[in-house]
Amino acid sequence: MIDLRSDTFTLPSKEMIETILTAELGDDVWEEDPTVQELEALAAKILGKEAGLLVSSGTQGNLVANMTHLNRGDGVVLERESHINMYEVGGLSQIIGAYPHLIEGDNGLMDPKAVEAAFTRGYNVHWVDFKLLCLENTHNRGGGRIIPKENIDTLSKIAHENGASVHLDGARIFNAAVATGMDTSKIVENIDSVQFCLSKGLGCPIGSLIVGSEEFIHQARRNRKVVGGGMRQAGIIAAPGIYALNNMIDRLAEDHKHAKMIEKTLLEIDDLRVKPVDTNIAIVDTSQSKWTAADARDGFEKRGIKVTYLGDHIFRMVTYFGITQEDIQLVISAIPEVFS
Ligand SMILES: Cc1ncc(COP(=O)(O)O)c(C=O)c1O
Repeated sequence: MIDLRSDTFTLPSKEMIETILTAELGDDVWEEDPTVQELEALAAKILGKEAGLLVSSGTQGNLVANMTHLNRGDGVVLERESHINMYEVGGLSQIIGAYPHLIEGDNGLMDPKAVEAAFTRGYNVHWVDFKLLCLENTHNRGGGRIIPKENIDTLSKIAHENGASVHLDGARIFNAAVATGMDTSKIVENIDSVQFCLSKGLGCPIGSLIVGSEEFIHQARRNRKVVGGGMRQAGIIAAPGIYALNNMIDRLAEDHKHAKMIEKTLLEIDDLRVKPVDTNIAIVDTSQSKWTAADARDGFEKRGIKVTYLGDHIFRMVTYFGITQEDIQLVISAIPEVFS
C-alpha cells in the first residue's frame, strides 16, 4: 500500500530508532532527563525562543500553550478551518473555558481587516475580551498552505497592539521554512509561542514541542502536568527528536517535490481542482467533475493507494518520508486511470 492519507503515517528510520538505545535518561518530571533537556534547548535555539517544552502531541502542545495564555472566559481569535478549531475536540472551550471567535479564511489565510475588527471593537458589557490570536503555518486544510511572513507579522502586530498574545500551531513549520528558504526563527520572530510536531514530516513516532519565553515555558510546564503530560524517562522520545531536528528538516524538500508532481498530474484531469500545493499536501476538489471523493478514494484503493476522504467532493494526498520516488511514479500513473 502507498499510504498518502497523512504525514503522521511516517515511520522512524533505523538510525532514528537506534538513538533511543544510547539515550541518557532521567526523570523528566523532576527535570532530570538530560536528553529531554538537550532537545528542548535545541528546539528553542532553532525557533529563536528562550525555552522549550516536550509534549506528547500537537494537540497537547496547542492545549498547554493556550492554557498558559488564557484564563477561563477569555476570547481567542482563530481561523475557522484551523486544526485547533476543527480537530482538537474543542479543547479550547471544554478544558480552558475560552470563547473562540472564528475568522473565515481564504484557504487558511486571514484578512487583517477581519482580525483587526475583532480586536478593536472596544468595550461592551456583553462581550468577551480577546486575549489571544492563534495562527497555523503551514495550514493543513488550506492544502499545506504557507502563510506569508507579512501576513503573520501584520496579524501579530494587531494582536499585540491590542494587548493579546499570539500562538502559532506550527505543526508543519519546517515545511514552511524549507519551502520558502526562510530561517524558521525569522518566520516566528513576532510570535509569542509556537507548537511544532516531531511526529509528522520529521518522522518521529511521538512528540511535539512548545517554545516561548522562559517565563511562559515555566508556566506551561505546570499546565502540561495538569493535563497528564508530565512524562518520566521521556528521553526515549527526545532522542529521536534530536535526530530529527539535525537530520530530517532539509529532506522535506523532497516531499514538496513529490506533492508538486501529484498536483501537476491531477491538474491534467479536466474539471478536477487542486488547492495550490505549497508544501506536502494536495487537497483535491471533485465538485466540478463527474466523480465524487468516494469514487476517487475507492479508485485509488483498488490500485494500492490510500487517500483521505474529507467530504463528498474533497480528498487529500500527503507526501512524506517513506513515500519514495517509485511510489510517486505509481501514483502518477494511477491518476489518469482513476479519473477515466
Ligand atoms: C496543523 C495541525 N496542528 C496540530 C495537529 C495535532 O497533532 P497531533 O496529531 O500530534 O495531536 C495536527 C495533526 O495532524 C495538524 O495537522
